[in-house]
This record gives sequence, C-alpha cells and structure tokens, in this order.
Amino acid sequence: MKEKAISTFSLCKEYRIGDSIIKAINNIDLEVTIGEFISIYGPSGAGKTTLLNLIGAIDTPTSGKIIVFGHHINAYDGADEDFLATFRATNMGFVFQSYNLISTLTALENVAFPNELAGWSGERSQKRAKELLKLVGLLHRADHLPIQLSGGEQQRIAFARALANNPPLFLVDEPTGNLDVETGLEIIRILEKLKVEGKTIIATTHDERILGLANRILHLRNGRIVTDVGK
Ligand SMILES: Nc1ncnc2c1ncn2[C@@H]1O[C@H](COP(=O)(O)OP(=O)(O)O)[C@@H](O)[C@H]1O
Ligand SMILES: [Mg+2]
Repeated sequence: MKEKAISTFSLCKEYRIGDSIIKAINNIDLEVTIGEFISIYGPSGAGKTTLLNLIGAIDTPTSGKIIVFGHHINAYDGADEDFLATFRATNMGFVFQSYNLISTLTALENVAFPNELAGWSGERSQKRAKELLKLVGLLHRADHLPIQLSGGEQQRIAFARALANNPPLFLVDEPTGNLDVETGLEIIRILEKLKVEGKTIIATTHDERILGLANRILHLRNGRIVTDVGK
C-alpha cells in the first residue's frame, strides 16, 4: 500500500456572518498519497483557498480531522502552535496567490529567510537561496526588492522560498492566476520539476496546463468535492 501524505475526515470550516452560516468546507473526506500531484478547480468561493489553508494548518477547521504525514494537525487534537510552526517549516512549502513576499527584503533575503528562521547560519542560508534563485532563473535579480520585480518574477521568488528547506509537500494557490500566459510558463516548468522529484503537490488552478500535469483532478463546489478523477 502506498503511503498517505494527507487524510481529512469529515472536514468542515464554517464562517458565521450575522445570522447566516457559510459552509466554506462542507464535510470533506480526502486521501492524498505521497507523490500525488492534485489539481483543484472550481468557481470563485468554492472553498479552494480555505481547503489549502486547513491542510497547511494556517487556518483551523470548525470540525473534522486532518492528518498530514501521520500527524494530527488540529489544535483540538492536541497540536500546539510550537509543534505546528516546526511541522509547517519542515514539511510544507506554501505558494500563495498574492506571493506574500516581504517587501523590505531583497529577493535573496526573502528566499534565505525561512532557513535563517530555522537556525541556519546566514552564509549557509544565502548559499542555498542563491542555488534556488538560479533554479527559478532569477539569480541576476537577487538584490532586487519585490516591488522592482514583475508578478511572474515575484511568483518565481515565492516558489524559491517555498523550496528553501526542500519540503515534501507543496500547497500552491492559483499560481498562474495573476500572470499572463507566457509568464505562467516558467511556473509550469517549476511545478513539472517538483512533480518529477516526487513531491506531493496540491495546486488550485483553472490553468489547463497545470490540470494537464496533475495525476488527479478534484472539482470543488460549495465546499464539497463534486468529482475526483484520477488519470
Ligand atoms: N475570513 C472569512 N470570513 C468569512 N467568509 C469567508 C472568509 N474566508 C473565506 N470565506 C468564504 O468562504 C467561501 C470559500 O472561500 P475561498 O476558500 O476563498 O474560495 P476560493 O478560494 O475557492 O475562491 C466563500 O464563500 C468565502 O466568501
Ligand atoms: Mg482562492
């Protein structure tokens, strides 16, 4: 039997607004095997970002369970914030839709930052950051601030940062959503590389090229998985 990367059981996330309750994630049971590349598509508001944030323990569910690499990651199942911070830093690479780079840090510093935070020496984290900038084709922009870079370049820096400590799991939210078709191609190449390396990848997207790379495609609507198709 193949090893599980992620399992969710009756996962729910509700938002209460005034008298109404929005079921952003409505009873999701999902099993992800190590090495799978899953793409999730669905209309705006379907719950795609919420699902990624729950799996990444950035957000807490209203009810249900999530197990990632054998660990319960819900606070109510006993995972405390220190454990989660280390767990996230060791196991997960996030790429957010809006890049979330630190505006006062250069490209190199943004990529070096997670490893410095994890206690690496400045020299070692900078060396690793340079390798990663080279990998995403942006070594020549190492000293530039995010504001001096295009959207596509910022997204590549965000990927380099997510790769900093070589995590086994990548959670990627509409990585080409804000990019023109040509710029998006660089991102597709990075995802392809990660797939070849056997990383577990969950990417929300409407991009046919990313859907084409996936081993499995989920259609999410109203917080539910309406189709789950393996290829
Ligand atoms: N912080 C929040 N407060 C209230 N409602 C939210 C919040 N975040 C998301 N939602 C709602 O949850 C639903 C799912 O949102 P989201 O996960 O962002 O969808 P998607 O990423 O598929 O566009 C939407 O109805 C959205 O309005
Ligand atoms: Mg979203």
